[in-house]
Amino acid sequence: MRTLVVGANGFAGTYLRRELEDNGYEVFGVDVVSNNDKVKVVDMLDPKKADDLIAEIKPDIIFNLAGQAAPSISWDKVLLTMHLNIDISVNILEAVRKNCPSCRVILIGSANQYDGSKAVDGVISEETPLNCTSPYDVSKNAQEDLVFLMARKYDLDVIMTRSFNHIGPGQKTGFVVTDYCKRIVDLENGSIDTFTFGNLDSWRDFSDARDVVRAYRLLAEKGEKNEIYNVGSGKSFYIRDLIGNLIELSDKAKAKVTLPPRLDDDKLVHVRADITKLQKATGFEAQYDVFETIKDVLEDYRKGNG
Ligand SMILES: NC(=O)c1ccc[n+]([C@@H]2O[C@H](COP(=O)([O-])OP(=O)(O)OC[C@H]3O[C@@H](n4cnc5c(N)ncnc54)[C@H](O)[C@@H]3O)[C@@H](O)[C@H]2O)c1
Repeated sequence: MRTLVVGANGFAGTYLRRELEDNGYEVFGVDVVSNNDKVKVVDMLDPKKADDLIAEIKPDIIFNLAGQAAPSISWDKVLLTMHLNIDISVNILEAVRKNCPSCRVILIGSANQYDGSKAVDGVISEETPLNCTSPYDVSKNAQEDLVFLMARKYDLDVIMTRSFNHIGPGQKTGFVVTDYCKRIVDLENGSIDTFTFGNLDSWRDFSDARDVVRAYRLLAEKGEKNEIYNVGSGKSFYIRDLIGNLIELSDKAKAKVTLPPRLDDDKLVHVRADITKLQKATGFEAQYDVFETIKDVLEDYRKGNG
């Protein structure tokens, strides 16, 4: 099977290439930047380049992981976020319908699309209402609407995810775990003297990126055409515990910063993904321990890879 990973040099794209290679796929990777010969440089915002690429490879499966992935950054880069998160998917679908109309396309949405306040008992299913609280959310909801509109009109085979937080070495700053890893390493190397904490008092669904990309592969193999799937661990993690664990791993941080007092348990909102639909379709179970993963992320930042 010929697979094309778009955004192949990014955080999740790098893990996905490995996952596909380990499972016997022929993998073509493209990204707008590349530091290795396995990933070809193609700007997928350019419709002609996207068309030429897909005409040449004629993949059986395309995964689109390219985009602007950080909701916080989307406020400073509104139009860039819209372009990257919508236009690339449209360019891919246009090229697929012309060159390889039976190709399956996996497109990545986000848990941020949901209205978290409408979670039932802290659980977010694919039926939970959507809401936008950042330009990133708008881009992902618009992507989803356009993708399904085009899939219906041209009878394309698409699967959309709504992916929850994922972490692992290789992730850039702009996300809660990596932002604190960076601060801890900055403390350790003396470039800052202390730091303060933002809101740590929420429970969220986190996964190791290796689990997430396995779910993407399984969806490509076993998912239903034109469906949306939550991708997450199905488990809720207290952000204070994750960050508290990171602080415990650093003597400098333990000496220099103090976690703010915790809220009473009854004031905390627990949110996790309902992954029943993913599990029924694919048999997916998360395999990695997120508390081990955050140690690896901190080590990655200590090596200067963040
Ligand atoms: N990281 C998370 O926790 C998370 C959670 C939910 C959803 N997602 C989604 O998963 C996807 C992948 O996220 P990530 O964390 O790997 O992001 P990332 O920023 O690490 O990777 C995105 C990649 O897209 C590439 N890219 C940007 N513009 C391009 C262009 N014009 N042509 C080709 N490639 C281009 C970038 O160079 C980068 O390598 C995104 O759609 C993101 O919104 C991520």
